[in-house]
Amino acid sequence: MAEFRVRRFDGKKSYWQTFNVPAKKGMTVLEGLYYIKENLDSSLAFRASCRMGICGSCAMRINGKPRLACETQILFLGDRITVEPLDNFTVIKDLVTDFEGFFAKHKAIKPYLIREDVKYDEPRELLQTPKELNEYYIFTLCIKCGACYSVCPAAATLDGYLGPAAMTAAYRFCADSRDKGKKERYEIVSSSNGVWRCHLAMECSEVCPKNVEPAKAVQLLRRRTAFSILKSLLGW
Ligand code: SF4
Ligand code: FES
Repeated sequence: MAEFRVRRFDGKKSYWQTFNVPAKKGMTVLEGLYYIKENLDSSLAFRASCRMGICGSCAMRINGKPRLACETQILFLGDRITVEPLDNFTVIKDLVTDFEGFFAKHKAIKPYLIREDVKYDEPRELLQTPKELNEYYIFTLCIKCGACYSVCPAAATLDGYLGPAAMTAAYRFCADSRDKGKKERYEIVSSSNGVWRCHLAMECSEVCPKNVEPAKAVQLLRRRTAFSILKSLLGW
């Protein structure tokens, strides 16, 4: 039996509730939450979809650390599990947080290939070598779970800060040899809410469940942005 301590929020107040879950070998925290919902308290709210570490919707704070509930086995953590919503996000209900702002920031960095010479009604293949793909491939693995954002000290203190996930996406496209939109993205990420606000805490990379290394992406983006500013100052 595992004891689940869940931080709940009913729209007005936050409180803790404890549930006993019959934990079996291989059972995940997400399965524990489903057990609670189906057998003990149907009002418990949490978000999940794929149950296989792909959709990013089940990120929550488990035993003090942001993790994917569907990839975290109960018995690896012991018999006392603490579950809380992600920090740095507004809580809607229980473990469900508001991701609207997070996705708006992602959209703001233009997370798509920018090509004026490509017509979508007349698609053509844009070739790339394996070496060119390697420049950004690791950063394509982000599942937008928000774990990095939830531990970011800059995001905690500055509402408009783009945050590690959005800037990882910005780097992913800026480092793509097929993209022609680097200049406009550099302008966005070098704004007062961009790369220069990063505190270099590196916690984002520590907690990323996909080993994407958002802190590295932000540093690489800083270097590119600085070079681009220097180039325009020198008129190159
Ligand atoms: S960079 Fe990692 S922690 Fe951040 S949103 Fe993407 S997958 Fe989640
Ligand atoms: S439910 Fe999709 S990542 Fe966990």
